[in-house]
Amino acid sequence: MASSRACFLTVALLLHVAASSIFISMATPIISSTTSSSTRCYKAIYSFGDSLADTGNDAYDDTRTLPSSQTLALNLPYGETYFHHPTGRWSDGRLIVDFIAEKMGLPLLKPYLGIKNGNIKDWNPTEGVNFAVAGATAVDSSFYLEKGIYNIATNYSLGVQLDLFMDLLPSICNSSSGCKEVLGSSLFLVGEIGGNDFNHPLFLYKSITEIRTYVPLVVNQISLAINKLINLGAKTLMVPGNFPLGCNFRFLIMYETADKSEYDEVGCLKWLNKFTQYYNKQLYAELNRLQGLQNQFQVLVVLLELQTVPMLCVVAIRG
Ligand SMILES: *[C@@H]1O[C@H](CO)[C@@H](O)[C@H](O)[C@H]1NC(C)=O
Ligand SMILES: *[C@@H]1O[C@H](CO)[C@@H](O)[C@H](O)[C@H]1NC(C)=O
Repeated sequence: MASSRACFLTVALLLHVAASSIFISMATPIISSTTSSSTRCYKAIYSFGDSLADTGNDAYDDTRTLPSSQTLALNLPYGETYFHHPTGRWSDGRLIVDFIAEKMGLPLLKPYLGIKNGNIKDWNPTEGVNFAVAGATAVDSSFYLEKGIYNIATNYSLGVQLDLFMDLLPSICNSSSGCKEVLGSSLFLVGEIGGNDFNHPLFLYKSITEIRTYVPLVVNQISLAINKLINLGAKTLMVPGNFPLGCNFRFLIMYETADKSEYDEVGCLKWLNKFTQYYNKQLYAELNRLQGLQNQFQVLVVLLELQTVPMLCVVAIRG
């Protein structure tokens, strides 16, 4: 196995490059998918998150409240560029998690819901798996329903995804020490998750003042998940922050204004990017707090420069 720092930097770099490419829409391949044994840092990847990481769970999600949103990623042009058919990914090609798996010399992550319902059969629990579900929130969907935010697309919040992981755990390892070893040599991708906790209320024109009150709850859910995984034996966890929501085309259309001062130099909505930065800073602060609690927990930050908008893309590692 390569050194843990070298492995970490490889993943951090991949995340940075892949994340940047989403926003500058590079047409060229972002990274080479060649693999050498030196980059084989982890034996498996376990991924939690939303559409940014969902490699097909969307297709098997039995809790969809909005059936039309479920089928969208199962139609072209989704999947067109790389897989040549829709795979349930909300992308025409591969996702960041796919590039990380390729670079690590591991198989592309299969969607756990497809395995659970028997559709996907050629799978071994120790090869890793993906729990990320498109539309997922960090906080449980029931919280938002109680607040009148009725458009949460799926019940598979981060907590429910972790429950699925706990159900699966006995087929990955059987003793506390065995689990520590297996999970210690796995890579955990915890996110991106949390973006939908803000997207859904923003889609309903909820006030940013109200949405800001959800930030500590989202950060807390992510923190609980990380703690749980670390206590089970996870040593390397990637925890990306959110992307600049003020540059998202849907919000640019929804919140369009004639007031030029509301936009930054590249045409993004300043108030919404300020909010994203606020959230990312809170997440970063929590990871630093965890660092104080957990032995040898290191926090490394990847600064994502989106033209003139510096965004914090938080990445964490331990061990
Ligand atoms: C929905 O999520 C809740 C937790 O918020 C969980 O208790 C329940 O089992 C989930 N339902 C389904 C159908 O997955
Ligand atoms: C754990 O034990 C069960 C029951 O003995 C067995 O079926 C399973 O394969 C074991 N899992 C691992 C990872 O060894």
